[in-house]
Amino acid sequence: MITESAIRGLGGFSYGNLARKRDRYIPRGVGNGNRSIASHGKGAILYDEDENAYIDFAGAIGVMNVGHSHPKVVEAAKEQVEKMTHPGFNVIMYDGYIDLAERLSKLTPGNFAKKTLLLNSGAEAVENAVKIARKATGRQAVVTFSRGFHGRTNMTMAMTGKVKPYKFGFGPFAPEVYHAPYPYMFRKPDEQSDDDYVQSVIDEFDLFLKTEVAPEEVACVVMEPRSFIDQRTEIDAFFQATAGL
Ligand SMILES: Cc1ncc(COP(=O)(O)O)c(C=O)c1O
Repeated sequence: MITESAIRGLGGFSYGNLARKRDRYIPRGVGNGNRSIASHGKGAILYDEDENAYIDFAGAIGVMNVGHSHPKVVEAAKEQVEKMTHPGFNVIMYDGYIDLAERLSKLTPGNFAKKTLLLNSGAEAVENAVKIARKATGRQAVVTFSRGFHGRTNMTMAMTGKVKPYKFGFGPFAPEVYHAPYPYMFRKPDEQSDDDYVQSVIDEFDLFLKTEVAPEEVACVVMEPRSFIDQRTEIDAFFQATAGL
């Protein structure tokens, strides 16, 4: 709960009112990285109501690569809402969905025919990937990796490989989800080279497929590497090796 002195220290009357409203009307379960409240932004800079500037290193956690209020994005958004707002593709189709599906299908790596389904959130996309994999293979098991994060819905919580804060107190979770070992370079024993360490985790993954779940029962193996955060070389080596097992 924010205190009066903190409100005085952090800005003027409007900040205090908004901060109080935030505490009154928004549950604590919605985590906030800090107590500042943005008012407007341009490119990589956000401003609060007192025109204090913040460099936005987070970009809404890696989803705002062109920055805030890019002129092309603003123009496209205005053009769209003036044309129509939300027909609902399953009610009546429209060109934007089809054109974007074509672009994403062509951009996605892999030399094979691809199709695109647009969903509301990351968690919904992961859940649908699991549904598609289960239906297509007729198998049930889902393999994810320790420390991986997949979302806040029930299925994606089950898939998430970190208990606190994401899963703690929220069980029971969906069954048939198996957590495999994943390289954690930060905790790599000093005496081991990077290559040896990654190889040792690949060996553990091989063992996991013998001791925890049989490959014949696996519908999908889900890995969500974020190349802007994670270490590329380690991911590449582990990804290539596990794909081959
Ligand atoms: C790797 C990863 N997977 C899934 C999600 C879930 O996405 P969303 O919050 O849009 O449901 C996130 C983001 O929070 C994420 O970083």
